Amino acid sequence: MTPASSSVPAADPTRAALPPGLPDPADLARLAGEFFAALPATLGQAPATGGRLAAPTHPQPSGLSLPPGAAGPSTPAAVPGGMPPGANLVPTSPQSAGAITAAQPKVVPHALAANGVPDHVLQAAPGYDGRIGGQVLHVPEAAGAGLPSPTGVPGGALSPTSPAGFYFLDPAATARPGATDLDRRAIAGLAPNPHALPTAAHLPAFEPEPYPTAPAGPGSPAFYFVDTTPPSRDRADVPSAPASRAPFDVHEIRRDFPILDERVHGRPLVWFDNAATTQKPQCVIDRLAHFYAHENSNIHRAAHELAARATDAYEKARETVRRFLGASSGEEIVFVRGTTEAINLVAASWGGRHIGEGDEIVVSHLEHHANIVPWQQLASAKGARLRVIPVDDSGQVILSEYQRLLNDRTKLVSVTQVSNALGTVVPVQEIVAIAHRHGIRTLVDGAQSVSHMRVDVQQLDADFFVFSGHKIFGPTGIGVLYGKREVLQDMPPWQGGGNMIADVTFERTVYQDPPTRFEAGTGNIADAVGLGAALEYVERIGIESIGRYEHRLLEYATTQIRPIPGLRLIGTAQDKASVLSFVLDGHSTDEVGQALNQEGIAVRTGHHCAQPILRRYGLETTVRPSLAFYNTCEEVDRMVAVLRRLAGARR
Ligand code: ALA
Repeated sequence: MTPASSSVPAADPTRAALPPGLPDPADLARLAGEFFAALPATLGQAPATGGRLAAPTHPQPSGLSLPPGAAGPSTPAAVPGGMPPGANLVPTSPQSAGAITAAQPKVVPHALAANGVPDHVLQAAPGYDGRIGGQVLHVPEAAGAGLPSPTGVPGGALSPTSPAGFYFLDPAATARPGATDLDRRAIAGLAPNPHALPTAAHLPAFEPEPYPTAPAGPGSPAFYFVDTTPPSRDRADVPSAPASRAPFDVHEIRRDFPILDERVHGRPLVWFDNAATTQKPQCVIDRLAHFYAHENSNIHRAAHELAARATDAYEKARETVRRFLGASSGEEIVFVRGTTEAINLVAASWGGRHIGEGDEIVVSHLEHHANIVPWQQLASAKGARLRVIPVDDSGQVILSEYQRLLNDRTKLVSVTQVSNALGTVVPVQEIVAIAHRHGIRTLVDGAQSVSHMRVDVQQLDADFFVFSGHKIFGPTGIGVLYGKREVLQDMPPWQGGGNMIADVTFERTVYQDPPTRFEAGTGNIADAVGLGAALEYVERIGIESIGRYEHRLLEYATTQIRPIPGLRLIGTAQDKASVLSFVLDGHSTDEVGQALNQEGIAVRTGHHCAQPILRRYGLETTVRPSLAFYNTCEEVDRMVAVLRRLAGARR
């Protein structure tokens, strides 16, 4: 088979467009046709072209003087005009990569805050520790037991109508009974477990959950074109969180988290590294497995059943996030990789449009690097300035100083709600209100707050609120940017690609509205679904019950570790959540961390990605136990015993 017999006229303009070394598509088509024609009829079905594949044609985009290409009607129209399939993979100009590199702003080492406050300068305001003299000497393990029942926030129930209009399946498919036999067998097979791994008791109740019913309405996105054929398998088997329980019982809660049965160095694991990441309940693990076993597909862009399931699961997760945050619309919920990506998105998109030379961005001294570096980069690129709200010795922001920082050049105030390094709960609602009185936009970093306290973004009124899924019992690699609808609407995309577009030609692109405008490419679909399951789980426990229990646990832990000789607690604000940061005389923070690890107790040691605030206290590192609602007073006692031993053996 040689190209000599090609039926493509020598004058075919696609030949002229071919990069050297690539086969001519017309030749390939002819060869394929000859191949099929040579097969026995039972093996190769000769196409209707009479044993020859037609030389592809390409609909040339209007306005371009490129030669007609070789892509057939079934080839995605995004193939660059005039190029045969594959030709666009040949490296062309390094322009994009070079431009990105060139655009990287220089980052100035952060020894001095931009408002002239060096990290090591101590503030004049007196320290204040509301816990001194506290009489909470022992909180029983089930400290929440006497508390009122969780509020019973309904979790997981699908709204009868899709928030985003994505659902299109036949209503007749909704009334299916419980899980399939196949699934029951699979679950039962997990139950016997001699290794303290999850048992049947850990598995969630598989509550029948109707499949989404709302068919695509006239306003639905044009992603779907499937008919309303009922789903091909039972859909009542989607794992969901255990039914709500009251009163709060930490022992029962712990059974939801299989990893808490692990042993480390022969001792039961104590997970006190919750500010770094939280552990996952079985219902989240099951939800991820279910997605990959039964729903896995790309979303928003296919005509098949699994695309429908995956899209519905993803959009249901968005609705769960909306409900969890109290946002007014799913259009205000953008899925991102995490808090860091969310802040970078705002810096690139909103900041790129609204921050100019001489403008000022205000952050607090407590910020995680993720809420410092993107603003420094933006400031460096734009000739803007970063200003820093100082904190007092307890680790609380000084509001009077904050107010003094604001002026008519201030364009954004971006603050954390809870300090990851100290645990300070920052009065963000007040900070937001003050900023808004000056017409300044606000961002609240909720990475360390959402798992500990109720967040209602409408009440908070911040323009942006960001958090990470893995800090609230969900998967890593998924997070949320909440933005007020009108603010998001006014922002350009920050990444370009598939999914975020309404229409593309070579002259221009029309973008989707938010949130899709900010979700270019294939997102982290499964983990968004997993995040939805995690939030439903938290809803069913009740965030207020969680917050009350954790508060008592933190008080107990604080009263236990403060008297340890040589221990210095860093961060003593009156309002704190989860974190006990400290240093111990005579021992490096690494030594303390290793000694705890030997006893199966996991804590973070280091700078916690918050170097400026540690330097504010003259430190580079601390030991940082951080609590969650599955921790107990007995676990605190185990940690305190190790610390007392170390303190007793002080050099
Ligand atoms: N931000 C995480 C922490 O505080 C990684 O540990």
